[in-house]
Amino acid sequence: MAFRALVVDKDAEGNVTHRIETLDESRLPAEGDVTVAVEYSTVNYKDGLCLSPSGGGLVKTYPHVPGIDFAGTVIESDDPAWKPGDKVILTGWRVGEIWWGGYAAKARVKGKWLVPLPEGMTARQAMAIGTAGFTAMLAVMALEDHGLAPENGPVLVTGAAGGVGSVATAMLAHRGYEVAALTGRPEAAGDYLRHLGASTIVPREEMAEPSKKPLERETWAGCVDAVGGTVLARTLAQLRYGASAAAVGLAGGAKLETTVIPFLLRGVNLLGIDSVFAPIEKRRRAWERLLHDLPMEKLEEMIVPATLEDVPRLGEDILEGRVRGRVVVDVNA
Ligand SMILES: NC(=O)c1ccc[n+]([C@@H]2O[C@H](COP(=O)([O-])OP(=O)(O)OC[C@H]3O[C@@H](n4cnc5c(N)ncnc54)[C@H](OP(=O)(O)O)[C@@H]3O)[C@@H](O)[C@H]2O)c1
Repeated sequence: MAFRALVVDKDAEGNVTHRIETLDESRLPAEGDVTVAVEYSTVNYKDGLCLSPSGGGLVKTYPHVPGIDFAGTVIESDDPAWKPGDKVILTGWRVGEIWWGGYAAKARVKGKWLVPLPEGMTARQAMAIGTAGFTAMLAVMALEDHGLAPENGPVLVTGAAGGVGSVATAMLAHRGYEVAALTGRPEAAGDYLRHLGASTIVPREEMAEPSKKPLERETWAGCVDAVGGTVLARTLAQLRYGASAAAVGLAGGAKLETTVIPFLLRGVNLLGIDSVFAPIEKRRRAWERLLHDLPMEKLEEMIVPATLEDVPRLGEDILEGRVRGRVVVDVNA
């Protein structure tokens, strides 16, 4: 049966173009062993890159269906782990980049990439969480594995009004942490972040300039950092003794100019978070924890509903830091 997809291609000048197409099943990639009826996808920073005129260097072969994550129902499976009717989630594995992704009503992927939708979570909620929220969960798990607990003190979340930041803020607050939300839009997003559970709003400009000192006042018991660059360098200098920062993203820059002093004199840790190739057992644990640690009524407030037609515009918005919360794309609307 034919189905709709958002297809990106390259024009004669090498710029990425996009259009909605009706495809038949023969266009699905041959490599996969599970066919999924996709219900929802999302818009992540990487999706914005794949849709941008340059393509961000992530997609290797055109024409291509982007969309780095999706949730839906198995319709056909040659993998004994899955059967028709199973509800599944896919994030990462470079789906939407080198493999065809979730901006289509059907996808064919490898069964070993899928995780079950947790009982009690809908496909729409799973994509409201999406790669961004799943990654926020991985960051919190890593911080807690390194000793973070609510009684340790305030936790800084950077890029707080974005996808990773919104989910991290709501989840940490729900678990009893005192959350300080760093944002570049304190006026526009302050109430939203307080509503998600942030007790303090830190304007980004307070951390935007490099510090002349290798150590600043010990402030944070932990940090979920979606921003990188100077903000992360300043955060490292402000971590309390033995505390950790989880490096998730680079919305503010990939460069990290710091000294080793916070590591040597305060024993702080910088934890790398990768969601793309996270092992399957860790994925299952993260999704089960999201069901319990993330208040679903707060998740609902983060949602920006969208259709496939809206995705290119939202891709531009996410690259410009204009999306608040989480976009949920109903691929069948
Ligand atoms: N490691 C992984 O596996 C993984 C997984 C998912 C995402 N990521 C990365 O994590 C980052 C955040 O992803 P997301 O989905 O949350 O994106 P997002 O929704 O666009 O959020 C990013 C946020 O960063 C802040 N920001 C934007 N431009 C900035 C700048 N120039 N300087 C400082 N802050 C800036 C903004 O928050 P405020 O308006 O509140 O300041 C923005 O909302 C991205 O870099 C993404 O690629 C990594």
